[in-house]
Amino acid sequence: MDHFLYRDGTLFAEDVSVADIAAQVGTPFYCYSSATLLRHFKLFDDALEGMDHLVCFAMKSASNQAILKLLASAGAGMDVVSGGEYARAKAAGVPGDKIVFSGIGKTQDEMRMALEGGIRQFNVESEPEMHALSEVATSLGVIAPITVRINPDVDAKTHEKISTGKKGDKFGIPISRAREVYALAAKLSGLQVIGIDVHIGSQLTELEPFELAYTKVAELTEQLRADGHTIMRLDLGGGLGIPYTRSNDAPPLPTEYGALIKRTVGHLGCEIEIEPGRLISGNAGIMVTKVIYLKSGEDRDFLILDGAMNDLIRPAMYGAYHDIIPVIEPKPGVDQSAYDIVGPVCESGDTFAKQRMMPPVLAGDLIAFRSAGAYGAVMSSEYNSRPLIPEVLVQDDQFAVIRARPTFDDMIKRDTIPVWL
Ligand code: LLP
Repeated sequence: MDHFLYRDGTLFAEDVSVADIAAQVGTPFYCYSSATLLRHFKLFDDALEGMDHLVCFAMKSASNQAILKLLASAGAGMDVVSGGEYARAKAAGVPGDKIVFSGIGKTQDEMRMALEGGIRQFNVESEPEMHALSEVATSLGVIAPITVRINPDVDAKTHEKISTGKKGDKFGIPISRAREVYALAAKLSGLQVIGIDVHIGSQLTELEPFELAYTKVAELTEQLRADGHTIMRLDLGGGLGIPYTRSNDAPPLPTEYGALIKRTVGHLGCEIEIEPGRLISGNAGIMVTKVIYLKSGEDRDFLILDGAMNDLIRPAMYGAYHDIIPVIEPKPGVDQSAYDIVGPVCESGDTFAKQRMMPPVLAGDLIAFRSAGAYGAVMSSEYNSRPLIPEVLVQDDQFAVIRARPTFDDMIKRDTIPVWL
């Protein structure tokens, strides 16, 4: 459930008319609902009730300062994957002991930054990374708390570009080698082993792969404990999928996911961390665009929008489906026609949907892309020198621009011309 609903024939974000935002901010823009973000966070938090736990928002899915601050104020920790994300989390007021550092390519500068600023744990993904981290920690005279991310070789049954827990994926350490790698970690004086980490992929629409992975984690916990390691924390990653359509076969709910966690690892007495991104932010955001032209092609009609692949790359990159709806509510039973819905960028890949059925649309109409809150603004670029589009946050009947649209001048001024030119 989200808070983008038609009211009196027009789309609202909570209690604000989307058309009013468009009139003030211009199109295209991203619009987030605070109530939806908080609701989704709370679903996870409640699902793990009764267990010592922390929900760390995977801020790679949506990293605006306002969003981070909102979630942090509700008690969220953050899962970060770069120095930039770490800096953003700290700037939003997230304490270091609620920040988890993931990622396969952490640099020593990033490690130093996190050790100095405070960190809950590093999720380490390789032996060279372990040596590097131990070296940095030792040079600073501190001990780095770590989990090792294991690759359980489980098929997440999701898009191949976002599957991360199968043999052959670049992530984690093969579970078959876990014991020797933990033995190495225990020998490195700058590290303290505290747990195990796993993340098998994103947009999972079934619980079974989680069940397989978490069962393997539970077995490994017992094995590693028998080897003498302290396993007190399990980071179970993110990945629970969201409904991108309004059909009935929605992915499992956080409550079912929480029950699965309790069932598979609850008996171990570990502190549980999860790192959901998409489920918290995905359906908490829309992208609002305007129709520039309707164009009749030889065998199809095109709806040309002012938003493009540089603003929302998911359809071009993963063939992802987003619901595309007019901001003015269509009359019930109105005739629909098929359009290829495209942006103005100069490549054919700049296509949001092919032969999508739409109610009657005119140039100038506002069109909203649903489920665009995750991996939307964060993956945007200024390709074709189209300035990054603004982000707007709604709360009840108020809204604020939380990232302004750069002017052409702002964009140009980021470049510098060498003296010899
Ligand atoms: N933890 C780790 C270590 C991750 O790599 C990810 C996502 C998450 C947590 C959060 O997963 P989520 O709960 O959001 O599924 N750009 C792609 C998705 C990439 C996901 C990358 N890792 C997309 O637009 O579908």
